[in-house]
Amino acid sequence: MATDLSKSIIYQIYPTSFYDSNGDGIGDLNGIAQKLDYVKELGADIIWLNPIFVSPFKDGGYDIVDYCNIDKKFGTLQDFDNLIKKAHSLGIKILLDLVIGHTSDQHPWFKASKSDKRNKYSDYYVWTNSIFIGAPKAINGMAKRNGNYLVNYYAFQPALNFGYSSIDNSSDDPWVNNKWQMSYLDERIKPLHNEIHKILEFWFSRGVDGFRVDMTASLIKGGGIEAISWLWHTFIDRVKEKYPDAIFMAEWGYPEQSSKCGFDIDYFTHESIGYNDMFRGDPGTNLLPAFECGHSYFAKEGKGSKKTFIEYTLKLSEELNKGNYYSIASGYHDMIRMSINKNHDLLKCVFAFLLTYKNVPLIYYGDEIGMEHNFKINKDGGYVRTGARTPMQWTDGNKRGFTENNRPYLPVGKQKGISVESQEKDKNSLLNFVKDLIKIRKENDVFGFDAEVLVEMNQEYPLIYVRKLGNKQVYVAINPTNKSYKIDKKLSKIIYINNAEVDSDIRLNKYGIVIGEI
Ligand code: BGC
Repeated sequence: MATDLSKSIIYQIYPTSFYDSNGDGIGDLNGIAQKLDYVKELGADIIWLNPIFVSPFKDGGYDIVDYCNIDKKFGTLQDFDNLIKKAHSLGIKILLDLVIGHTSDQHPWFKASKSDKRNKYSDYYVWTNSIFIGAPKAINGMAKRNGNYLVNYYAFQPALNFGYSSIDNSSDDPWVNNKWQMSYLDERIKPLHNEIHKILEFWFSRGVDGFRVDMTASLIKGGGIEAISWLWHTFIDRVKEKYPDAIFMAEWGYPEQSSKCGFDIDYFTHESIGYNDMFRGDPGTNLLPAFECGHSYFAKEGKGSKKTFIEYTLKLSEELNKGNYYSIASGYHDMIRMSINKNHDLLKCVFAFLLTYKNVPLIYYGDEIGMEHNFKINKDGGYVRTGARTPMQWTDGNKRGFTENNRPYLPVGKQKGISVESQEKDKNSLLNFVKDLIKIRKENDVFGFDAEVLVEMNQEYPLIYVRKLGNKQVYVAINPTNKSYKIDKKLSKIIYINNAEVDSDIRLNKYGIVIGEI
């Protein structure tokens, strides 16, 4: 029986940037523990932490050298235990990041695997059987061993060897042979499986509640659902036998597939169907920058289309089994901040949607106050992504209340007013809006994942849908444009209203929002 996430709110924390408790300019675990009350008050009940394990941090910690220890910049295992304890006492669950598609090239397994003498780790990574045999994403000439290793992402992230879903060994041409590939069922891969079981047991026995799984689909090479589903079931089913409430969240953006692999939840970002059409505009040729070009649905010009995203999520509602969920991310550490080209009224429209539509909302730290993207910085292998990873803005002060250190590891944002401190004081702030809507979501089961959603598709704007549970029906109208709309609709009870008037009909002014019972 899967954990019930129907009414959950997930909050993602990039640990280096949340709160620095020891004045070294870098966020840490004790800092997160000190800010748990804020997360609680916001209304989130699950936190996903980006990697906190020992790492050279050439890719934001997604290059691990020790899976079962905390990087010293974040603190110690004891600090982690304290964090878990405090989180649990507040009813907050903690998900860590499981990065097992690859390790750092500094991981002891890889160092041993590079050796030209066969050893226990020789098969832990994917190696061709000759330096002269190439393969897509293979790096050659970096090891004494006569072979090239496959990478999963950057050159220093060698892919762990979970085998291939199918192998074509038919060619006799020595330059193209695939004899080095192993089937995913090959016995030689079992020791690596055991390592993963051990890592999972290590963290679950310490009290962790689950994992967000990095590059979920990348583990088995060669594609297809059968092999990868078998592999993830091998890991997840074993965990769930002992820890039935464990939560596994896929980084796939494709819940139709991840749910078949045993994942409880998956999430949508700039790489998912229709996401950019809805929130970010045409990303142009370079997917990551995903600039707002004025044509996304949530844009004041009102020229966008909700069709692709909404039709896709409606189809999912029919296809997914109960107990399988998806999140719509307000942002995440690999994506340009949602706030680009949006004022706070428009951001309220986005959050009204995220918090009342059918999904398990995933809020990226700082999005709730409208933190902005810094396009000028690049650190820890982030490139343009770094701009979404700047220190959390707690105050309007010099270092934004993030650190006492004069040199935070990344420059802090400059915009006054975009801080927790100032927005807590302003009853009309984005932060207070987000808190109110989360409260409304929690108090009304009709906004939970398990309730139905019916969307008005006959016109593009405004965005109108009904959430329905039993005989309760709630009407949501959101106007992300700078035009006004009149809707001939009578509500029996108003739940929330912003930039709108409601009496015998509904008048949505620019950026208007109305939520009410029918
Ligand atoms: C993570 C990235 C990381 C990559 C390689 C991704 O999907 O979210 O931040 O760079 O995996 O591990």
